[in-house]
Amino acid sequence: MKVLIFGDLFGRIWRNALIKEISSLKEKYKPDFVVVNGENMTSGRGPIEKHMNLVHDIWVDLFTSGDHCFDNEKNLLPYLESEDCKMIRPANFYESEYYQLPWEGYRIIEKNWKKLLVINLLSETFTRDHVYNPFLKADEILKSINKKIIEGNIKLNWVIIDFHKEVASEWYWMQEFLDWRVSFIFGTHTHIQTNDDNISEWWTWLLSDVGMVWAQKSIIGSDFGSLKKRFLTGIQKWKIEQSLDKNYIMNWVLVEIDDETMRCISIEKIKKLWNLDNY
Ligand SMILES: [Fe+2]
Repeated sequence: MKVLIFGDLFGRIWRNALIKEISSLKEKYKPDFVVVNGENMTSGRGPIEKHMNLVHDIWVDLFTSGDHCFDNEKNLLPYLESEDCKMIRPANFYESEYYQLPWEGYRIIEKNWKKLLVINLLSETFTRDHVYNPFLKADEILKSINKKIIEGNIKLNWVIIDFHKEVASEWYWMQEFLDWRVSFIFGTHTHIQTNDDNISEWWTWLLSDVGMVWAQKSIIGSDFGSLKKRFLTGIQKWKIEQSLDKNYIMNWVLVEIDDETMRCISIEKIKKLWNLDNY
């Protein structure tokens, strides 16, 4: 089974880039599932409903998210509560009997008689929000799913995790901690595709960042000119604009996992430069 994974889609450019490319990429790679981190989909912030609705036309199976997931909560709420919702949020925000958040932190998606569990987690380190320990949360989710498998209530073919975070040490320890329980752990949020794909002692694979889809002449999608005064004066009050450069960089990863053993067989990292004028 193959999964095509994209990291953070930034702002306006992703809508042009992914919508134009997804059909040919699906034709070329023939993935069973397409999973995309969508937390920067609306001007670098969490998506609005209008942008999520575009998703249904471009055949993405599931969107993961991160620290920006509640940025446009009010606008997005009707979508989140609808049956069409294709987005999960980090599973390790605090919830209690006193306050429950909308939205799921993990989901099993199914296609062609194959089932994939996708878990989304957020780091505690250098992120704005205070979250429950992501290692313990992953352990709790996997144990509860395992219980359902043993009871015969569900079947699974694979497990992958989007661990949204800043610090590489947490990724690596997550791999060590969840070794043999998860097929593939990938990172998002640091935006640059890394070359540290690594298989653990038992078989869990890791890539600490799958990279993002962004305008080439930009700083993670932000226009150089609008950042000029910030960098040269140190004053941070000036508004950051999106880059509208028509050259853009798409990063993605194709992961192949054995259907029987849940082990990763291969991982292919791709970085491509495209130009919107070619269409
Ligand atoms: Fe993020």
